[in-house]
Formats: sequence, structure tokens, C-alpha cells
Amino acid sequence: MASSCKGDGAYLVGRVHTDLLISVTDRCNLRCVYYMPDEGMTFLPRSQLLSYEEIGRVAAVARDLGVTSIRLTGGEPLVRKDLTSLVSRLTSIGLEDLALTTNGMQLAKMAAGLAAAGLKRVNVSCDSLRADRFESIRRRGDLATVLSAMDAAEAAGLLPLKVNVVLLRGRSDDEVLDFAAFARETGRIVRFIEFMPLDAQGQWDRSSLVPGQEVFERISQVWPLEALGDHGEPAPAERLRLTADGAFLNCPFSDDERSARDVLRGGAGAGEIARMLREAVWAKFPGHATNQPGFLRPARSMSMIGG
Ligand code: 5AD
Repeated sequence: MASSCKGDGAYLVGRVHTDLLISVTDRCNLRCVYYMPDEGMTFLPRSQLLSYEEIGRVAAVARDLGVTSIRLTGGEPLVRKDLTSLVSRLTSIGLEDLALTTNGMQLAKMAAGLAAAGLKRVNVSCDSLRADRFESIRRRGDLATVLSAMDAAEAAGLLPLKVNVVLLRGRSDDEVLDFAAFARETGRIVRFIEFMPLDAQGQWDRSSLVPGQEVFERISQVWPLEALGDHGEPAPAERLRLTADGAFLNCPFSDDERSARDVLRGGAGAGEIARMLREAVWAKFPGHATNQPGFLRPARSMSMIGG
């Protein structure tokens, strides 16, 4: 394995996985600098994506194994046709939580329908509160559309609304306090996400990463903050994933994948999918190797595995 989610060598056994991240497409209508190159992305052919019916079958197996919470992601999940029908399908299998991560470009018009179909919450990505910077980081799309999408999501009852912020050194790291003030004023939960080496362009370098500790300290100097400790939601990097082309992935830095799609299309039943899912969970290591010497970039970027 070129890269794995190996921490200090200790396996964490007996971990109960209650969260599953499902990527529904590798396509996106934006080209965020930390995510995709401006031109020249190639995307999976439609036939390689899991159908909604196939996603529903995998999700039902996951629920039987104890998954209570599913998050839909992409690429940009709302660019996949009729995502609302997938939400209805997943709602019908019975989950405690069903959430969606989106860039917000098409959310305003879809929010009420998604909520009616059973979606509970959304995370909206928004990396700057200044229109010009927002556009330079996202290359397409605009801040005003995303801010009105947040209003529409709240009006539809998709609460609590979370805002994902990938801070970039030298580009937006001076907005930490603006985002903290925004959270206080709006009641939205702002989550600062460290820039990870999962961009499709391979432009990541450590110097553009703004460490969470620094964000914490800068905000604490102005407003009191409590550390969430173990009570926050699992970091995006630590969830079990189902990629858009139907592979189980236990960590975004892992290249140890199992194709549920091939197994499903080969006519296998729920028992076989359950076995694969268990194996993916058991192969999971605590922590990951990005801080260790010799770390190699994973073969797949974030847009392929689900941001
Ligand atoms: N580093 C960190 N987070 C990323 N995301 C996408 N690419 C990266 C990256 N290179 C996550 C962020 C963003 C969502 C689309 O996916 O949370 O808001």
C-alpha cells in the first residue's frame, strides 16, 4: 500500500460505525482551487456510477449493520439528476440522520423539496465572506447565491445549518474572526476544515494549510470557545465512505478499496455486501499517515471519493 490510514500502529478494534458518507457524483459545477483544476477534468461515465437503486441497497445493508447517519456528498451532489428521489429512497429505509454537503449553487430552489423528501440538514461550503475572494477561490459561482441558499435552507427547516470553510494561507486566513462573527450573528455552525492533500491538481503544500489550533487560538483571544473533544461529529477524513463508482473506502488516504458495484452487478445479495462493509470497517486504522515521512498522495482526489 502506498498510503494507508496507519497511526501509531495500534488497531482500533470494536469500533461501531454509525456514519456513512455517500458520494453520488464526481462532477461539480464549480472549480474550487483546493478541489479541481479549472480546465481538463475528466469525469466518470454514467454507467460506472451506482444507480439510486444500487445506493439504496447498499444503504439498507449499512443500516442493518448499525449505520444510523448518512451524509450525501460529491463532487456536488445537487448536479446529479433528481437527487430528491434518492433522498426519499434513503428516508424510507429509516435513519436517524440524513444530511447533505453542497456548494449551495442550486440549493435555494431545491431546499423545500429536499426537506419534504426527508433530508434533515445541510452543510454549505463557503470559503470566504468577500465576494471577490469567494470567486477567485471557487473560480465559478458567486457569494450572493450561496448566502441566499443558506437562508432558503433554514426557511425549509434544514437545521442546524453548518458552513464548511477551507481556509487557505495568504488567501483567506485573515477571515477567521469574520467567520466567527458570522457564526455568532446567524446562529450557523461554522466549521473550519484544514486543507488536505486531496486536491485533483496536486497543488497542496503544507504552507497553505491553516492549522485548526491556530484558528482556535485566534478566535479564543476574542470570544470564549469550548473544545468539543470527542463529542463533535467525526472529521470528514474518518468516516466510512461509498464512492460514486461504488467502492467502499475506509479513509480518503487509503488506496485499499473494495468495489461494491462489481459485486452488486455480479448478482450478489445483501449478505455479500454486508461482508464487504464489515471488512472495510475492520481494515480501518486510527489516524493517518500524512504527517509521516514518506507519505505519498493517494491515487484519488477528494472529488472522486467524496468531499
Ligand atoms: N481539503 C480539505 N477539504 C476539502 N474538501 C474538498 N477538497 C478539500 C481539500 N483539498 C471538502 C471541504 C469542502 C467540501 C467540498 O469538501 O469540506 O467544503
